[in-house]
Parts: sequence; C-alpha cells; structure tokens
Amino acid sequence: MYTTNNISPYLLKWYDQNKRDLPWRKYNDLYHVYLSEVMLQQTKVETVIPYYKRWLKKYPTIESVALSNLDDLLKLWEGLGYYSRCVNFYKACIILYSQYNSQLPNNMTDFLKLPGIGNYISAAVYSIVDKLPAPAVDANVTRVISRILAIRNLTPYNRRRIFNLLEKFIDKERPGDLNQALMDLGSSICAPINTQCIKCPVSQFCKAKNTLLPFSYPIKRNKSIKNIKHFIAAIIWHKKQFLIMKRPFNSMLGGLWELPNTQIDLKISDDIQLFNYIKNSLNFTTRIQNKICTIKHSYSHFDIRVSLYHCRINDINIKNMKDVCWIRPKDINNYAFSKSNHKLFKILNTNGWTI
Ligand code: ADE
Repeated sequence: MYTTNNISPYLLKWYDQNKRDLPWRKYNDLYHVYLSEVMLQQTKVETVIPYYKRWLKKYPTIESVALSNLDDLLKLWEGLGYYSRCVNFYKACIILYSQYNSQLPNNMTDFLKLPGIGNYISAAVYSIVDKLPAPAVDANVTRVISRILAIRNLTPYNRRRIFNLLEKFIDKERPGDLNQALMDLGSSICAPINTQCIKCPVSQFCKAKNTLLPFSYPIKRNKSIKNIKHFIAAIIWHKKQFLIMKRPFNSMLGGLWELPNTQIDLKISDDIQLFNYIKNSLNFTTRIQNKICTIKHSYSHFDIRVSLYHCRINDINIKNMKDVCWIRPKDINNYAFSKSNHKLFKILNTNGWTI
C-alpha cells in the first residue's frame, strides 16, 4: 500500500489563482460541458476553442443539435478530426432530447450507455455538472499522479493505484474543479518534457521531483514507425462537374465526402488500378488523363500518400446513385471533406482545375 498526503486543497488553491479562462468554463451545464469534453478528446485546447465557439453560435442547445442534420454538423466539425465523435454526439443528443428532456440522466450508468460515452467523459461531465466525486483520468492527469507516486510503468495495477489515489482525495465539494485543476496542471507545469517543478503547487508531495529526472515518469511508449499507405484518387469530370462520394458511417472518417479513391499496390500501374476501381465501384468507365499531384497526410496510426488524376467519363448515361454527388469546384464549401481532400483541392485551386 502507498501513502500520500491529500493533494486536493493545494491543487484547488492553485486552480483558483491560475485556472485557464476557457469558454466552456463559463457554464457548468450538461450541454456546454458535454460538448467541450467531446471536442477535447485527443485534441488540444487551442484547436478546440474556435470550433467550440462556432458550434455554440449555430447550435446553442441539445435540442438544436437533435433537430439538426448530420451533414450540417459534420461541416461544422470539419478539420477537428475523429469524426465519429460528432456522429456519436448527434446520436446521443437525440436520445437526451427525446428520452431525458435534454437533462443530465439521474444515473451515470444511463449516461454511459449513450453512443461515444466512456469512463473519462462521464466522470468529467458528472463531476463538473453534478458535483459527483468521480475522477476524470485522461493522459495529463495520469502523468501528474504517476509523478507524484513515481510510477514508471503504466501497468493495469499502477493505473488502478492512480485511480484509487484520486478517488480517495477527490474534493467532495468541488470534484469538477479538482479534475480540471489536474488537467490544467498536466498541460502546463507538469508537461511531458518541459517540467517546471519549481512552480508546482504539489511538488512537496511529488516522488518524481526528488529524482534527477522527473520528466522521465512515466516511461513514454516508444512511438512505432508509422506505416505508409498509398492511394490513388480521381477527379472524374462530366461536363463541368466532378464526382464526390460519401464515406460509409461504419468506416474511418464516416459521413465525410471525398473524391473517389482506393488504396493501391505500388507494383501495379496507377492507371489500371484506377480504371478498375471506378468501373467496379461506380459502374462506368473512364479515360484516365494526367496526374495532378501526390500529397502526404498523417493520421495517428499511419501516413498516407494520395496521387490525384484527372479522369473523363466515357458513358453518357449515368445513373443516380445513393451517396454520390456531382458538384462544381465552387460547391466544395457546402460539403464536409477530410483534410487530405482539402490538400488536393488547395493544389487544384493554385494550379487550375482544368485538365
Ligand atoms: N481537457 C479535457 N477536458 C478539459 C477541461 N475541462 N479543461 C481543460 N482541458 C481539458
């Protein structure tokens, strides 16, 4: 068993003097807190702020989200990444609106059943909105407590120790503030590398501080070298329009629009693979014309290279298909596209759209 002093009063005092002035901290109600926590998952505070503000202007309530449509929501989310968060938030708002009168469910287990809700979000929301003493343990909080306990390896046992310590000392009057104090401390003073122990309100209790290398706690996982996946994409012209497709909801970037594209085998020529892909997926044939560019893009677990080709459609009679649209370059802003597609559009905007 371990012993540690109660760090909560020190953290709360520090928080009262140093807390960041963040837009979602003005309102402690379900909608504002829930929206901010969803946007903040895997995403930096500075990136979230403009998205959060724009979102609230257009959708000020749970009801307004529940009664909107997903294409509009994804357009507003465009560029924030991890789009399933937006899809799940929409689905959860419909349930909150229709079954819970847009109020926080009395029981946290009901909230946990909503799409996209895990332990972290539910603890953050219930501690801030409802003052439930539930530790919200994200990567920043994990790092702070690992250092206090001088934990090097984040084994399941050590994660349990971190949770137990927080559960024991979480402030019963101000659990939301305590959670957010730890988040703020972890993203500033107790940062991964630039550790500023001298400014830390709980340094006197920190075992890692007494070592020569406080920033080496906990051990960082070796980032594995990312795989590169190669894709070809087509800008298929018919008259003055080109074709875009909506990605299925059960896939990565589900619900976003994109130029037709497919992963390729580098040993086979691009032309053959693109021709076959279009024929099989869209049921028409094309003349593949010039290559426009190749762009690079990085996702969390792999990198991609996308080569873009101008194509012309051979068939004259094209059937209407679900989740397929013909648009002009000026219509791009009406649809939500992934970042990699925007990189392609940017090159076309600079170099010209014509074949
Ligand atoms: N990261 C996740 N939730 C946060 C919050 N409420 N305040 C600051 N950073 C956060």
